[in-house]
Amino acid sequence: MSEHHPTPALRAEGLVKTHHGEGAPARAVRGVDLCVARGEFVAVTGPSGAGKSTLLHLLGGLQRPDSGSIWLDGECTDSYSEARWAVERRRRIGIVFQFFNLVSNLSVADNVELPALLAGVPPKRARAERETLLAELGLDGKERSMPGELSGGEQQRVALARALVNHPPLLLADEPAGSLDSRGTREVMRLLSRFHQRGQTIVLVTHDARLASAADRVISFFDGRIADDAELTGTPSRRVGASGVLELRD
Ligand SMILES: Nc1ncnc2c1ncn2[C@@H]1O[C@H](COP(=O)(O)OP(=O)(O)OP(=O)(O)O)[C@@H](O)[C@H]1O
Ligand SMILES: [Mg+2]
Repeated sequence: MSEHHPTPALRAEGLVKTHHGEGAPARAVRGVDLCVARGEFVAVTGPSGAGKSTLLHLLGGLQRPDSGSIWLDGECTDSYSEARWAVERRRRIGIVFQFFNLVSNLSVADNVELPALLAGVPPKRARAERETLLAELGLDGKERSMPGELSGGEQQRVALARALVNHPPLLLADEPAGSLDSRGTREVMRLLSRFHQRGQTIVLVTHDARLASAADRVISFFDGRIADDAELTGTPSRRVGASGVLELRD
């Protein structure tokens, strides 16, 4: 991967983030170096509270690190303003959040088209993109539904469609199959694999070993740090053993 494209899609160095809330300060990210090649599919797993979502928020510019730097396509983001990050998210980073994915008082169609319209895509094209994506996700016929009328899995797929509508080179997805049953998880997995095969760079945060097994590489996150970073080998069906436990190469 990096042989073909020397400039990584995403690079982070020395990322540190402590949350100061009501309780004791939470040292969510404690020094993370990360390089994601173009076209690479990286899964980030780890226990609850390990700092996975915080890391993803940092990588998407939704939160600022206390220290450390992030490069997008080789460009240092240190000097980016909030507005600049917002533009980059519209143009080249699709994000699926762990919670609050959809605007509840907008239809499915409007939810998916919104980022395209905000990015200045002509309405006709935004609509065409939306139709293509929803069809691909098995959601045709749901355009006029409101998010509250959809199942959890359908909502997650709409959120993915919304994150992908601008063809962002980089997709950051936080538990896109969280709370889904195995069928829903399979659907999300198939979808991510399909985009990956077309060259989509993906950073996926998940608890789910099956979902992680679709990735090229699995990063285990623990106590705000990368505890393990392993390339996966073999076909997807071989990667998950009978126990459902990931089989990683040493
Ligand atoms: N906005 C915030 N204010 C204060 N503390 C926070 C905030 N966000 C996260 N934390 C704390 O930072 C730590 C890491 O949280 P984070 O959400 O990144 O974990 P996570 O790995 O995504 O967990 P999960 O798997 O449950 O989603 C936790 O201790 C959490 O309580
Ligand atoms: Mg989280």
